[in-house]
Formats: sequence, structure tokens, C-alpha cells
Amino acid sequence: MGDPFGHTPLPAHGQPPAQVLDELARLKADDRDWRSGRVFSLVYSAGEEHHHLLEQALAMYAAENGLNVLAFPSIGRLQHDLVRNTASLLGADDPASGGGVEGYLTSGGSESLVQATKVARDVARERGIARPSVVAATSAHAAFTKGADYFDLELRRVPVGPDFRADPAAMEAAVDESTILLVGSAPAYPTGVVDPIEELAAVARRHDVLLHVDACMGGYLLPFLARLGRFDAPFDFRVDGVTSMSADLHKYGYAAKGVSVALYRTHELARHQVFVTTDWDGGFYASTTVAGSKPAGPIAAAWAATMHLGLDGYLRLTAEAHDAALALRRGIEGIDGLVVRGDPPATVLAFGAADPATLDIFAVGDALAGRGWYLDRQSGPDSLHATVHAGSAASVGDLVADLGEVVAEVGSRRAADRSTTYGSDT
Ligand SMILES: Cc1ncc(COP(=O)(O)O)c(C=O)c1O
Repeated sequence: MGDPFGHTPLPAHGQPPAQVLDELARLKADDRDWRSGRVFSLVYSAGEEHHHLLEQALAMYAAENGLNVLAFPSIGRLQHDLVRNTASLLGADDPASGGGVEGYLTSGGSESLVQATKVARDVARERGIARPSVVAATSAHAAFTKGADYFDLELRRVPVGPDFRADPAAMEAAVDESTILLVGSAPAYPTGVVDPIEELAAVARRHDVLLHVDACMGGYLLPFLARLGRFDAPFDFRVDGVTSMSADLHKYGYAAKGVSVALYRTHELARHQVFVTTDWDGGFYASTTVAGSKPAGPIAAAWAATMHLGLDGYLRLTAEAHDAALALRRGIEGIDGLVVRGDPPATVLAFGAADPATLDIFAVGDALAGRGWYLDRQSGPDSLHATVHAGSAASVGDLVADLGEVVAEVGSRRAADRSTTYGSDT
């Protein structure tokens, strides 16, 4: 069996811990070094002291099983704190929310979106819809496609507007009697723009359908940007028509991987995320996630992250990340030949060639990778993508400097290729 990663066979005799750890360190040596601040994706870092705290909390709960909070009541308490506090950040304490927001932890953003899709499928069944549909912009996360695939819903992808945001009129045109769920993103991953949630909510209300606001990125970002006076668009449960939301602790909550929150405006909706059965020989079985047995370490680490940072810590990290994102954006806009996609208000952005005929943005990505930078790539249109977090703030100046050099190199190579191919007037 071919294996691109190589293979370590199960040893015939167990190895001492030090040897195993040495080998792990050796295997890890080729991984991206996120501590360098050059990784603008996948990892969110709030510094060494914070990271050490996460490691300790993970270790404290390495053996416990989050499946059963009767056996481990502390895990129940940690979950409750995280869900309640996230709900508060997203407007649940405001009378406009209706006062009934409830939710559950999940393993990550994708599971939160998949669960929201499953809840919508259950509501559609109650309404007698044979094959329900979901209407989402092309910018909505791929996990909606996954959820629709898992639960056999029809996903209608609607092109974004010229500003890369969901287009409420086009989305409304895609709604019909089979539709159960609309999707808005705050912000959307591909370009970091925030969809017009109030307008989408008006569409949802007009057609009596659910509206999920995917704040996986923004749940621990936009509320703090708003408090800092840097963001003011309504996007949470204070908007009439928003029926569910997701917010990832393992992104801008600066937690360890494995924790997101799925929230629902009412108990009636939230209960659909709970799976209960007695239909086997093992007795009463209930769970709120896809996983049965589940790691408690990430839950403890997320709780530790939120308690250690507190409101003032999140405001500080958000300001640092946002200042860095603004600096990156200014830097990109100052480089001839590059454009930022749309008007991203937070800390996620994408940029590409102003004229793809004269600059190959993926060649720019290759050259940046050669200098040790890690940025995601995407198409529609071809772009590089940066998730700016507190841990990447210090390197933004270097990134902009390298980007300027690399764009000049790649651009002049392309110009030289063109003159060789087509001849030149000079
Ligand atoms: C807006 C948005 N939603 C959902 C997700 C999925 O999150 P996860 O990778 O934790 O499953 C992401 C991931 O980047 C995201 O940006």
C-alpha cells in the first residue's frame, strides 16, 4: 500500500517514553512552524504563556470522557460555561433574542454547520417537506455542502454580488416552498466579508424559513471589534430572523483545536441536535454531537483560554489582530498589480492579481512559500488567503516587504516570457 507520509510499523516491543517522544519530535520537524508567525492559516496563537496553559488543561483531562457528564460533572460545568458565555457574546441576553437561546459544544466549525443543517432537516420533516432545500451563497463554507450531502438536502448555491457578499435578492429568488434554511456568513472564509445579515433575515422572515449565521470565524471576533468601535453591522441573535449561529472557540477564541459552539434561538430548535435512543442492548443512550466518546481535553482547554483571557484579553488580541490585518491590507493595496477582494472588515482577507494576464498569483504564492510563508490558495477568482491573528501580527511588515519583492520578480518573469513568446517592441 503506497503511503505518501511513510509508515511506522507497530513495534514488536514497546518503547520507553523518552524514545517515543524523541521520535515524535523528529516526525514533527517538517511541520510548519507556526511559532515563526509566518503561518497565516490553520493556527491561532495568543503567545507562549497562553499556549502552555492550553497544554496543561489538555493534559488534565486527557483520560476523561466528555460523553458522560454524570460521571464527570466538571465537564458538564465547563461545557455549560462555554455555551452560555458564547451565547451572551452573540446577543442572547438581549430581550430582542427572545431570551431562549440554547446550544451545544461541537468538535469544530464543520460539525456546528452540519448540526445546523441536520436541525433544519428535522424541522423540514415536521413541516412535511419531502426534499428540503438550503439556499447559501457560493462563499458559505464547504461544510454546508457536507451537511446537505449527509442529510440529503438540496443545496442551492447562489453567486455572491460584486462585493463578494451574499446577494439577498438573488438568494430570495432561489427560495421556494421546499426551502427550509438560508445561510449567512459573518465573516465568510473566502474573502472575509460579512454578509448583509439583516437583509437575509428579512428574506427568511418573509418566507418563514430558518437562517443560520455562520460566525465560526467571527463569533469571537466581531463582538470584540464592535466593543472597540470598529464594527457595527448587526449579525447576531438581536436580528429578528436569525434562528441559529455557530462560533468557533478553536479559531479566534484562541482555544486548542476541537471546540465550536452551535446555538439556536429556541429550545424547540436546539432539541433537534440531541440524539436519544434506547433501541439497542446497551440501555439509554443520548448525545449532542456526532462523536459518542469525546475528548474532554479540548473542552477544558477552551474553558481555560476564555477564563485566562477574559473580556480585556480578547479586546487586546482582537485589536492586535485587526491592526495587523489593516496593515497587511494597506501593504497589499500599495503593491502595484495586487488587489484585495471586497471590503473585509475584520481580520481575514484574500488578494489576487489586478490583471491575471500580467501576474500569476499562484506563482506569487510559490515564491512566498519559498521564503517560508504559508498562505492558503483559492479560486473564484484565483487568490491567496490570509487569516491574521494575534500571533501573526509581528510578521506582517516582513510579509508585505517580501510580497512586494516577489510580485516584482514574478511580474517581470511573466513579462519576459511574454516578450519571448510574442516578440517585443523594445
Ligand atoms: C466561516 C467558516 N465556517 C466554518 C469553518 C469550518 O471550521 P472547522 O475547520 O473548524 O471545521 C471555517 C473554517 O475556516 C470558516 O472559516
